[in-house]
Amino acid sequence: MKTRFTEMFGVEHPIAQGGMMWVGKAELVSAVANAGALGFLTALTQPTPEELTKEIARCRDMTDKPFGVNLTILPSINPPPYAEYRAAIIESGVKIVETAGYKPQEHVDHFKQHGVKVIHKCTAVRHAVSAEKMGVDAISIDGFECAGHPGEDDIPGLILIPAAADKISIPMLASGGFGDGRGLAAALALGADGINMGTRFCATKEAPIHENFKQAMVEADERQTKLIFRTYRNSARVAANAISEEVVRLEREGKPFEEVAHLVKGQRGREGYETGDTERGIWSAGMIQGLIHDVPTVRELVERIVDEADAIITDRLARMAS
Ligand SMILES: Cc1cc2nc3c(=O)[nH]c(=O)nc-3n(C[C@H](O)[C@H](O)[C@H](O)COP(=O)(O)O)c2cc1C
Repeated sequence: MKTRFTEMFGVEHPIAQGGMMWVGKAELVSAVANAGALGFLTALTQPTPEELTKEIARCRDMTDKPFGVNLTILPSINPPPYAEYRAAIIESGVKIVETAGYKPQEHVDHFKQHGVKVIHKCTAVRHAVSAEKMGVDAISIDGFECAGHPGEDDIPGLILIPAAADKISIPMLASGGFGDGRGLAAALALGADGINMGTRFCATKEAPIHENFKQAMVEADERQTKLIFRTYRNSARVAANAISEEVVRLEREGKPFEEVAHLVKGQRGREGYETGDTERGIWSAGMIQGLIHDVPTVRELVERIVDEADAIITDRLARMAS
């Protein structure tokens, strides 16, 4: 399949793997690249910019295909040294970045000065429009179904994707709730140039997380996610477990963030991924869990999605149209 996305980023398939805290490491990203899709290392998964430089080198050892780095900009009491992470990305010669989060202008300007292509991921049409004005090369638009931060507008992909396609002219990835060829064909029909997936890539052989999490995603249905941090206007979609249920309960009681902070520490989530304890902390997962039924290799997954989408378009839909 040839789209504006495959042309612009020099990849074979119109599929990206978005940044994923604790999961977006070289093992997964190189497998995505080798399968002909576009993977992103997650900058902040590395404890320091120096470690990010090493991770980029490690990924290069595992693939000679293009890959990118995700830089997520979140409001924080002790913000990470964003400018240093940004410099590490540029100095490593990485040519594609996925930005996500607040006020990316300074980062976009700097990346563009160094010839780095930027895909900005956002959750609202108005943010996509301002990112296009800011000079990004492409947009990734995350619907309400997505894992991680869906924003506060609660607009599902079926509306958000065509609404964004009507307003922006640069290439656009549809994100949130994608995991199979039906989704890819639908995204292209809605006006996107490809899909971005997170959760589906977590349930692959190469994802560097404990097997228990992959099985939990296979077993979960589409209802097994929780929206936490709604009351702090920083909503996040995570897997349903005892911890996320407790967070929702405390929020319903009107508790301030300080009283849930100990439950949602990144450290706990990371320990869970390492030890296999799916109840240790919160972990991001989207509604697409309901359509995940196996744990294939990344290559099997990518090829299956593309083949299935191709068959839908050239056979099922073509027959209907004729
Ligand atoms: C485990 C996990 C961690 C994530 N961490 C980040 C992150 O650090 N930065 C970011 O921009 N997006 C993050 N995301 C969101 C994904 O990049 C992607 O936008 C989202 O998963 C798409 O929705 P889907 O899960 O339905 O495919 C994360 C998603 C998952 C599943």
